[in-house]
Amino acid sequence: MKNVLEFQTKKNKSEKITMITCYDYSFSKMIDQTSVDTILVGDSVAQVIHGHTNTLTATIPMMALHTKAVRRGSSKFIVADMPFLATRKGLKNTMDAVGSLMAAGANAIKIEGCKGHEKLIRHIVDSGVPVMGHLGLTPQSIHQLGGPKIQGRSDATAEEILNESLLLEQVGCFALVLECVPAALAKKISAQIKIPTIGIGAGVDCDGQVLVLQDMLGMNTEFNPKFLKKYSDLNSEIKKSLTDYVTDVQSSKFPTQEHSYE
Ligand code: KIV
Repeated sequence: MKNVLEFQTKKNKSEKITMITCYDYSFSKMIDQTSVDTILVGDSVAQVIHGHTNTLTATIPMMALHTKAVRRGSSKFIVADMPFLATRKGLKNTMDAVGSLMAAGANAIKIEGCKGHEKLIRHIVDSGVPVMGHLGLTPQSIHQLGGPKIQGRSDATAEEILNESLLLEQVGCFALVLECVPAALAKKISAQIKIPTIGIGAGVDCDGQVLVLQDMLGMNTEFNPKFLKKYSDLNSEIKKSLTDYVTDVQSSKFPTQEHSYE
């Protein structure tokens, strides 16, 4: 996808949207050569790349740096995450943060949560910046939520997520990530709102899906949530390649004449 209008077109045509996270140039180049629709420079970069225990340590400079690297590798539609508290430090700071991510090459930004964001999202959208919403399990509120738990299991919380979805649509979000909510709730929301929903741990009836690239490639053996499908076992493959390399060097099997200059 090259522009924001294609998200709505896909939903209207009942075509699924595919989104994948990416944080660096080399993966971005590979993604660019596939039919994946859109890239998310998620604040999960703090965990996946920087080794932090949660996403709260992501910052605007971190997000901008990774967004720039991803943009250099791909011409696809890029959504960049507004990191923890970036929307809570007054309008000027928020707009400066939005400006940094857009200048870094993002086509849109993603904001977690709804409460207290309604006017702000409208202002950002009216400023010409597409905003993707994010409800359900919102990792930036991990301490408030008491851990990475499925959200919207009770009637009351399900209704709250549905109402917030409607509100985010009303204030101008062009799409909505639903993370770790019961499949039936995601189905109901996807049917009731006109903008596309993009699910992660939210069942098959969302209008699209998103996964963290390194997770779906099987690079992290310690992260095995129910919702995750691993399409490769790169952890084993990479370790095997490194072990083979060490063996070859130690036994002088590498470099051969083929890899040497006359
Ligand atoms: O930061 C991220 O990777 C995300 C996805 C899990 C949706 O927000």
